[in-house]
Amino acid sequence: MCGIVAYVGQQEALPIIIKGLKRLEYRGYDSAGIALLNSDGLSVYKKKGKVSELENHLNGFSNLESKIGIGHTRWATHGEPNDVNAHPHYSSSEKFAMIHNGIIENYDVLKKDLMNKGYQFQSETDSEVFIKFIEDIYVNNHISLEEAVRLALHKVVGAYAIVIMNIEEPDTLIAARKGSPLVIGVGEKEYFLASDATPIIEYTNQVVYLDDYEIAVIRDNKLQIKTIENVETNPYINQLEMELEAIEKGGYEHFMLKEINEQPRSIADCMRGRLDAKNGRLVLGGLRDYMNKFQNADRIIITACGTSWHAGLVAEYLFEEFARIPVEVEYASEFRYRNPVISEKDFVIAISQSGETADTLAAIELAKSKGATIFGVCNVVGSSIPRATHAGSYTHAGPEIGVASTKAFTAQISVLTMMALKLGYQRGTLSESRYMQLLGELETIPSKVERALKLNDKVKEIAAAYKDSRNFLYLGRGYNFPVALEGALKLKEISYIHAEGYPAAEMKHGPIALIDEEMPVVFIATKDSSYEKVVSNIQEVKARKGKIIAVVTEGDTTVKHMADHVIEIPETEEAFVPLVAVVPLQQLSYHIAVMRGCNVDQPRNLAKSVTVE
Ligand code: AGP
Ligand code: GLU
Repeated sequence: MCGIVAYVGQQEALPIIIKGLKRLEYRGYDSAGIALLNSDGLSVYKKKGKVSELENHLNGFSNLESKIGIGHTRWATHGEPNDVNAHPHYSSSEKFAMIHNGIIENYDVLKKDLMNKGYQFQSETDSEVFIKFIEDIYVNNHISLEEAVRLALHKVVGAYAIVIMNIEEPDTLIAARKGSPLVIGVGEKEYFLASDATPIIEYTNQVVYLDDYEIAVIRDNKLQIKTIENVETNPYINQLEMELEAIEKGGYEHFMLKEINEQPRSIADCMRGRLDAKNGRLVLGGLRDYMNKFQNADRIIITACGTSWHAGLVAEYLFEEFARIPVEVEYASEFRYRNPVISEKDFVIAISQSGETADTLAAIELAKSKGATIFGVCNVVGSSIPRATHAGSYTHAGPEIGVASTKAFTAQISVLTMMALKLGYQRGTLSESRYMQLLGELETIPSKVERALKLNDKVKEIAAAYKDSRNFLYLGRGYNFPVALEGALKLKEISYIHAEGYPAAEMKHGPIALIDEEMPVVFIATKDSSYEKVVSNIQEVKARKGKIIAVVTEGDTTVKHMADHVIEIPETEEAFVPLVAVVPLQQLSYHIAVMRGCNVDQPRNLAKSVTVE
């Protein structure tokens, strides 16, 4: 995980790096550190905790001027979060300093070898082993640092994005990547390196995405890229379209709240230029060349993690209902290791907000190696997954900074819904009139989400009543089952209240034993094909004195008499309900977390993009 930032140019590096680290803090916030180079030499400053702790620590030092620097915000994998394990790490001679995002899997073997040679280690990290391993190659072979890096990369196993500074070369940064992201911003006589583009856009919109097994050397104002096989490549400069204001809080107290409230716009942005209901047009550019394969697929396999996996579950219902192709939804982490049966007739859809999730990337590589067609549904433009897939559609939700995924989820479902409708229409499993009707309804979703957002005050009251509960159950059927899972995940990840999502009918096979007057049960009980059955499930909970919070369709009178609280959302097509029903559940978890004093945007132990296994 971790966020890395580096700078070399004419400006002061420190403020640029600190600001960049704050933007990347969502990727990890166990510790932060920075290395600077000036008349005092190559100095490393690091501190457990957030970037603001590092800033306080830096107040105690003078001579922090430097036109070059590297910075890191950590999500610990090897060694507890403390000052010593924080990055950057020095080499033994302290001539080099390095930041690292990723995991070196063979670090213990390398460490033992180095210890036998007399190397000592301060930290418990794999990263310190990495830089000392590079140093060992450098010292023994009398070669340049970049050549030592290149040789070292042939020996390390695992994932990395690294940036190294050398005390003897005050105008040089050496970077490399495999499996962890690294973007290089190209400015006027200055270069910026970062895990994603957010620390860079303020200064330049020209970026180069470093590829796996590439090494970048920035020296004397020039960028040179070569592969670890020592073949020089031409840096391809991309133009960033991201706006700075999109990554700022814009007056909201938390990014999560901003992102929840952005959903009418983000869903509309996702459909813009793609959906034209009046003329019955649905265009997904990425699908064009692969429509044939999609239409004739034997099976659709969806792979993802966390919230994106929940969006995948919604898609299973969509594809099976509208296009009549069998769908399997797989946790990427399981799929990649269980030797799944995959053939060339499978169409694999990988869903990821960040586009960097390590397990999802590995699942893609596996499916690709078996000849399947891989389609990505991602949010972050230029991230690793869109580059690893054959084709894809961006969700266009804009940067999502809060660790809890909200607007990315609804944008993912929007893309998947459009894909399912298009596929159903092309395959003839969806009649023209039904297709037109569904397109028309889909277009109204942003305004229905807007109306659902207005329930905020009501949801906040419910939050106040249950903020001290120790457990929650979330129940739904059909399209609302994944919504129940998502509601439960949101609550546990940001408020640390234990919550379980279940298909409502499964309750009687176990979870019903948990129900007593202390147990809030959230039902998603909208007017759909399983409504009557859900109402029976509500009765079962009521009979056992559970507290019932029900998300219902506007105007529902039946559930009102049974539930302790009802949240009435606008009516829509059954297949589109998740897009609206999830909104009050996002709000509920948000308010409970705020009331419990939790760090909503940066919940403990988590990070936004999980680039490690
Ligand atoms: C969602 O709130 C979580 N933070 C998490 O489950 C997330 O959805 C998961 O890590 C997958 O991330 P991705 O969409 O970036 O691949
Ligand atoms: N493995 C390194 C550490 O624990 C980097 C962690 C990461 O990138 O998440 O410090």
